[in-house]
Amino acid sequence: QAGLKNRLLEINKEAAKYYYYQLKSNRGQAAYEYLKNRALSAETIKKFGLGFSNKTGDDLYQYLKHLGYEDSILKEAGLFSFDEKKKVYDKFWNRVMFPIMDVNNRVIGFGGRVMGEGTPKYLNSPETKLFDKSRNLYGLNFARIARRPNILICEGYMDVIALHQAGFTNAVASLGTAFTGLQANLLKRYTGEVLLTYDSDEAGTKAALRAIPILKEAGLTVKVIDMKPYKDPDEFIKALGADEFTKRIESARNSFLFEIDVLEKEYDLNDPEAKTRFFNEVAKKLLIFTEEIERNIYTQTVADKYLIGFENLKKLVNRYGAQLI
Ligand code: CTP
Ligand code: MN
Ligand code: MN
Ligand code: MN
Ligand code: MN
Repeated sequence: QAGLKNRLLEINKEAAKYYYYQLKSNRGQAAYEYLKNRALSAETIKKFGLGFSNKTGDDLYQYLKHLGYEDSILKEAGLFSFDEKKKVYDKFWNRVMFPIMDVNNRVIGFGGRVMGEGTPKYLNSPETKLFDKSRNLYGLNFARIARRPNILICEGYMDVIALHQAGFTNAVASLGTAFTGLQANLLKRYTGEVLLTYDSDEAGTKAALRAIPILKEAGLTVKVIDMKPYKDPDEFIKALGADEFTKRIESARNSFLFEIDVLEKEYDLNDPEAKTRFFNEVAKKLLIFTEEIERNIYTQTVADKYLIGFENLKKLVNRYGAQLI
């Protein structure tokens, strides 16, 4: 098993090198232009080992065969489609390639982006004996040595890359999949605080709401950074630059208060009946704080924000608390 994994790592490394050289070749010109247009420097392209998968159907396969790898092992790599008539195709075709590295800088999989419009926008390696999406984070190999007080979690490849290029070398991405407890525990080995900088659309907000309890469960302090009016960190940085992003980090929202802000949008606070239901929901949520002092502080903060008395809200909280016993 260890032997198999090592051979798969070798194959991925060869593939990453191959894609990288294709990007630098004539055939990769359009892809290189694409990355340049997305404001990536040659240095950034090198750091992340970005590459290009050719238009022709089996270039990588032929290259790896040439290096002496057998079909039996290549089948396990997740990089090729083997059809019945024994014809083999490269899975990644005419895409900009993002090697995915584990914390030890070993290439465990790939993401590939279409240049411009097209579906799927990103194609990713399937799960293999090496690649388990649920226990890796893109960029963590760099972020873990950044020695910052926290780690930034964003959604995508380009967010991580743009952030690193702008000096935020503590950024990682969960790559569009639901955040897992394994990923949270992995982060906990390197930091005590995480800042969520998910996309500002509805999907990003939902993903943040789902990630918060998982991160807290792992013992991490969680804050949320607002990317509005931009879509994601990549677009934010491109529009406003690193200094403005730093200001957003400094004004990162406490995750509980973020949850309350999101909840608030579901209620029409001009309607007394809806407003009452809202505060009942808030009171229930305040019960997650088991320390009395902490619960009181949050109760006070929320009461002040909505100009309702602390004692009123506390009574409501206690009433729900009593129901739990
Ligand atoms: N993703 C994916 N497959 C897709 C779409 C998205 O795997 N079809 C993952 C990718 O890791 C992507 C992340 O989810 O980076 C976030 O998706 P999205 O916000 O749609 O893409 P961006 O990262 O913003 O991509 P870009 O800036 O290149 O458009
Ligand atoms: Mn030769
Ligand atoms: Mn998104
Ligand atoms: Mn983007
Ligand atoms: Mn995005």
